[in-house]
Amino acid sequence: MSESPFIAPERWPTAITTFDEERISIRGRAVEELMGLGNFADVAFLLLSGRMPSSRESSVWNALLTASCDHGPTSPSALAARVIASGNRRAPEAAVGGGILAIGDAHGGAGEEAMAYIQEALRASKADGLSFRQLAERIVEKYRCDGRRLPGLGHRFHAVDPRTERLWSLAQAQGLYGDGIAIMREIRSALSRALGRDVPVNVDGAIAAALVDMGFEPPVARMAFILGRTAGIAAHVLEELAREKPMRFRFAFSYDGPQVEQPGE
Ligand SMILES: CC(C)(COP(=O)(O)OP(=O)(O)OC[C@H]1O[C@@H](n2cnc3c(N)ncnc32)[C@H](O)[C@@H]1OP(=O)(O)O)[C@@H](O)C(=O)NCCC(=O)NCCS
Repeated sequence: MSESPFIAPERWPTAITTFDEERISIRGRAVEELMGLGNFADVAFLLLSGRMPSSRESSVWNALLTASCDHGPTSPSALAARVIASGNRRAPEAAVGGGILAIGDAHGGAGEEAMAYIQEALRASKADGLSFRQLAERIVEKYRCDGRRLPGLGHRFHAVDPRTERLWSLAQAQGLYGDGIAIMREIRSALSRALGRDVPVNVDGAIAAALVDMGFEPPVARMAFILGRTAGIAAHVLEELAREKPMRFRFAFSYDGPQVEQPGE
């Protein structure tokens, strides 16, 4: 079962999946058995972490994938996917793939860096004995000195992101509310004090803090968002193809470049 049926000059080791003529085994579990679990999110957790989630972890993991699933047609990924589908109507996979390519540091990918600064702060709290409030102020000051926005905070449309408190209260109910979420609350307060107005923790920041408390490493934040949002992007692509005319996107613009003269002889 652990031997791939293909003969290659050098064996390529993988710890994810193996198969033979009759069986497929994912992280050592038969695919038919996983199919019977009735919970795709748990299988995604298994794939990414190498272990099955506990029922408490499963609940929070499902919630954070659902929190990521869609934010309407104006989010960069759904908009990119719809624009691509409006011009290339025969390859919906290109539109879904293009939508995913719009995910990054400003949209859906901010959680990765947020996890890194949360983890760093938690290490520093042990080493330096500083309070979470002091550490949060240090992080906010550093980003502001560098002229950078803090990943995981702020939102174009929401003064309060409805997904954040819900995810964190589910984590609390499942006994998975830890120092990651606690320090993210302090970072939000510190940034709000620095800006003189309330700034929300957005979905990327909410997921980042919850994933730290579940013991994940930073790259998983981005993967979790992509996993959840792909369902939403797929729905936007199907709706665009079913409802809308090709090439429907038009918007007003004005040219403000130079009028280039023909050079004289
Ligand atoms: C999401 C985001 C792009 C929204 O930006 P926006 O629509 O310009 O937000 P607002 O109009 O509410 O606020 C703009 C001002 O608030 C401040 N601000 C907003 N988010 C901030 C953040 N995360 N860190 C520091 N300052 C921030 C800035 O001073 C900004 O002023 P500036 O344009 O002079 O730099 C922005 O908050 C951001 O870049 N966040 C970090 C990336 C992130 O977490 N992305 C995931 C989004 S779900």
